[in-house]
Amino acid sequence: MEINLTTQEPGRIACDALIVSAARKASDSGLVLSPAAAAVDTVLAGLIAERNADGEFKGGVGELLTLHPGDKLAAKRVVLVGLGALDKLDNQAVRKATAIAARHLQKTGARTIAVAVGLAVNNFSVEDEAQAAIEGALLGLYTFRAYQSKENTSSVNQVILAATQEQKAGFEQSIRQAQAMAEGTNFARSLINEPPCVLTPVELANRASAMAKEVGLECEIFEKEKIQQLGMGGLLAVSKGSVNPPRFVILRYRGGDEGDKGMALVGKGITFDTGGISLKPGANMDAMKGDMGGAAAVLGAMLAIGRLKPAINVTAFVPTCDNMPSGSSYVPGDIVRIMNGKTIEIVNTDAEGRLILADALSLASQEGMSPILDLATLTGAMVVALGHPMTGFFSNDEQLAEAIMSAGRATGEKYWPMPLDEEYGESIKSEIADIKQTGGREAGAVTAAKILEHFVGNAKWAHLDIAGTSYVDSPKPYQEKGGTGVGVRTLTELAFRLAGR
Ligand code: BES
Ligand code: ZN
Ligand code: ZN
Repeated sequence: MEINLTTQEPGRIACDALIVSAARKASDSGLVLSPAAAAVDTVLAGLIAERNADGEFKGGVGELLTLHPGDKLAAKRVVLVGLGALDKLDNQAVRKATAIAARHLQKTGARTIAVAVGLAVNNFSVEDEAQAAIEGALLGLYTFRAYQSKENTSSVNQVILAATQEQKAGFEQSIRQAQAMAEGTNFARSLINEPPCVLTPVELANRASAMAKEVGLECEIFEKEKIQQLGMGGLLAVSKGSVNPPRFVILRYRGGDEGDKGMALVGKGITFDTGGISLKPGANMDAMKGDMGGAAAVLGAMLAIGRLKPAINVTAFVPTCDNMPSGSSYVPGDIVRIMNGKTIEIVNTDAEGRLILADALSLASQEGMSPILDLATLTGAMVVALGHPMTGFFSNDEQLAEAIMSAGRATGEKYWPMPLDEEYGESIKSEIADIKQTGGREAGAVTAAKILEHFVGNAKWAHLDIAGTSYVDSPKPYQEKGGTGVGVRTLTELAFRLAGR
């Protein structure tokens, strides 16, 4: 996708469609038009105001009004998109609205689209608005069509951002950031969307390595022998039932001080979760190709971090394997020894994620990194607790928790804090091992987090359970069915905040 900046007046940009925006006034049903929308309204003799007065366009977030300016403008079509109430305007409204507009245009044949911004209000700058608009367009235009043989229907191949002469330098920076954030997110989405017959643990490691090479990150991949030497008993146990061997991927980005260990990102990389011997029911099992959503998010964030270069050291740890039932599978009743020496009594082979994460967290903590953030499609219980709108997270450090909430607000990904209180540790006590793998039905997302807590040592740590947010089962106006790439933008933003920008 080509992104260009132009200082031409929006009305003079030759394109298939020009996107302009309007917000709703707080006081009445009237609109506040962006400068470009106001210019279009003038050229079209008050058409927008008229459509608003008839009730055809009210300016809600993502509401669209298509206008055909004939030869009055260089654009073939103008799409006016609503940004919602002006007093609530933020980058998420702009991101979502632009994604909806761009997606709609792509579906209706546009190839070149221009975007004009300029409604910045409150404490939200026009540079932030431009970044959100480009991010929204790139996220909205994403499709995964690699396996469809029918000739691909047209797709947008150029996005032009309109700027004034004074805005130009700032918008160049907005585009750079938006492009890296969207590229990282869409990279994660494609990893999730790949079928499991293609995206095996070996293939996931290969893609991580190819990406690392492209972006300039150090990459180390451990094969089974090395995993055995290191004593990663969790990863070995889970991978036992599959013909696909496990991998353990480490990527390093060095933007901080030489001796500084920096932060660690850990991602659950189960390339397919059948449940193993504790087999899952068949319905919707296909979505379990997305059980490497945590790994995808971490890799996508490393891509964006590698491109944007924050002044901090960041290391990614990705344990990856699949969870299959077979004669060689691990079974309930087994006892598994994790890399840090602790033992876990297996009670349900479908609770595999915590086992592979335990090894990865042990290694990150052993290397002295802090904070450690892990992302995982870990529990169905988290989906029950918060559904799809928000990611629930756990942290042993209040400042880190606040930083996650605030990075999430900036990137439009929503997070909600969950508890780690001592009482929740009761149900994972084991009579024959150090801990028991699961704590039963109650508070399943919390007891899973309590298990992970045993492996982080003294590090500041946060666990983000993205089971409900990493994958959407049905298409939305702003994104298609499949991986969402949740976490990529928050982790990248967090890297900048921890680096002090
Ligand atoms: N990968 C699943 C969790 C999941 C469920 C992710 C739904 C996305 C959507 C995980 O490995 C799992 O199966 N967890 C079990 C744990 C239980 C056996 C303690 C669960 O949540 O049921
Ligand atoms: Zn499972
Ligand atoms: Zn799983």
